[in-house]
Amino acid sequence: MKLENEIKKRRTFGIISHPDAGKTTLTEKLLLFGGAIQQAGTVKRSKPGKTATSDFMEIEKQRGISVATSVMGFEYKGKKINILDTPGHKDFAEDTYRTLTAVDSVILVVDCVKGVEEQTEKLMAVCRLRHIPVIIFVNKMDREGKDPFDLLDELEKKLNISTRPLTWPIGIGHTFKGVYHLQAKGLKLYEPVKKGVSENLIAVQDLDDKMLERTLGNNAAQQLRDDVSLLEGLYEPFDLSLYRSGYLAPVFYGSAINNFGIRELLDTFIDIAPPPLERSANERTIKPDEPQFTGFIFKIHANLDPKHRDRIAFCRICSGQFQRNTFYYHTRLQKKLKFASPTSFMADSKSVVDESWPGDVVGLYDAGNFKIGDTLTEGEDLQFLGIPRFSPEIFRLLENTDPMKSKQLDKGINQLIDEGVAQLFFQELGNRKIVGTVGELQFEVIKFRLLHEYGASCAFRSVEYTKASWISSSDPVKLQNFLQQQSRRIAFDKDGNPVFLSSSAWDITYALEKHPDIRLHDNSEWQRQR
Ligand code: G4P
Repeated sequence: MKLENEIKKRRTFGIISHPDAGKTTLTEKLLLFGGAIQQAGTVKRSKPGKTATSDFMEIEKQRGISVATSVMGFEYKGKKINILDTPGHKDFAEDTYRTLTAVDSVILVVDCVKGVEEQTEKLMAVCRLRHIPVIIFVNKMDREGKDPFDLLDELEKKLNISTRPLTWPIGIGHTFKGVYHLQAKGLKLYEPVKKGVSENLIAVQDLDDKMLERTLGNNAAQQLRDDVSLLEGLYEPFDLSLYRSGYLAPVFYGSAINNFGIRELLDTFIDIAPPPLERSANERTIKPDEPQFTGFIFKIHANLDPKHRDRIAFCRICSGQFQRNTFYYHTRLQKKLKFASPTSFMADSKSVVDESWPGDVVGLYDAGNFKIGDTLTEGEDLQFLGIPRFSPEIFRLLENTDPMKSKQLDKGINQLIDEGVAQLFFQELGNRKIVGTVGELQFEVIKFRLLHEYGASCAFRSVEYTKASWISSSDPVKLQNFLQQQSRRIAFDKDGNPVFLSSSAWDITYALEKHPDIRLHDNSEWQRQR
């Protein structure tokens, strides 16, 4: 019974956005409204986007800081909410993709002026792949943004998801007067307050009420009536099951910096967002209410101090109860490990926890036992699925520049790959190691860390590849033929799966034309796509 209650209480989600849309501000305001922090400014900004590429130490520092803010738990109206932070900088997009494997739902922040941006599209593609329920928060309504109907259209088209506004803005920018709550049928008037929290919802029984003119003015009142009648014609009532299965995104409007629109978002969120969901392993599906503990590692944070090579591995609990100082089975290494100081993270503090429940994330101090994707159980041999890898965007050949230190280089690069800093592809032809990342920055980070933490030095040489595609075929003989004939373009990922390295879209088209029995996939999780 206790397990069931703890599961029902929990809501574990991630906030995602294109940088600068207001993710950090919204996170902070959710914590503020949830009473987890007393004042704004507690959540550290992960804003290396504004620094020069070469300023990667700053980014590493930020990464260090963000350990504390990687997971933020708080209680709100009887629910335990876990927010999983995702890095805003595009060079750390892989980190975000992995974090999305550990959440049950997502809040997507969109800037009403800029609309759907590049990162928004990429992140939503991952959400769709995993059928993650998404709520959209249209932010910065105090700015002169896009027409709300046009923006809904853009969201649907570019993000490939149906939308359903649950609040509706009255004006925008300098004419922004507040929002109308389409379900509660109430007005929330906008007052730009950075500290206080505006709470008054004015109930509106009838939109023809003249009170609307008195409160909003003639034009805004009429516009609201017209908009609402259009919306009622356009949209079906909100369908929870479509949202829960990832096909319909409810939309809210507000201004995070001005504390506006947050309460409606949070209250609806705890009502509709799913509690911890079941998760698939290679062997079977694991339900959260199974009594035996299971969990998986989705993120690893290195210690910035090179003298202490310990790391924090973040474990998402999938079923049962996790207890401190209890032996658990590390299924890849087939060995038992126990954790003396599992850590939970609150808004601005962390503490050792004695027990945790499905949906929670615990930080486990680790001296090198964990790789991303590792599974912990009470003894059952399981391997959770679903840590997708996407094609890197930049590829470089790794060269050892100090032959005396090749062991250190091997160890270092493998550990950094385990942490998920980059992807490594091994090419049999020429015995080459190719490192793939989503940003230039990672190469500098890798070089720096290899030198400072492992005493190894390396150089990166340009290669012509721009994309890695995972290969499959229903015919093993044809697959072998393809691997042989294309050997110049074939490499193996860290799990030994073959990938096709291409330099242009034409390479892929040409290869597929010549080998019609071969399929090329954009990510390592293609087997699971529905
Ligand atoms: P991010 O994490 O998604 O990258 O965005 P972040 O919250 O850091 O917000 C990006 C910028 O947008 C910040 O301004 C922030 O103050 C501003 N912002 C957030 N919400 C709103 C809003 O509702 N309205 C308006 N007008 N601005 C908003 P900055 O100048 O980059 O940083 P700061 O100096 O304010 O910290």
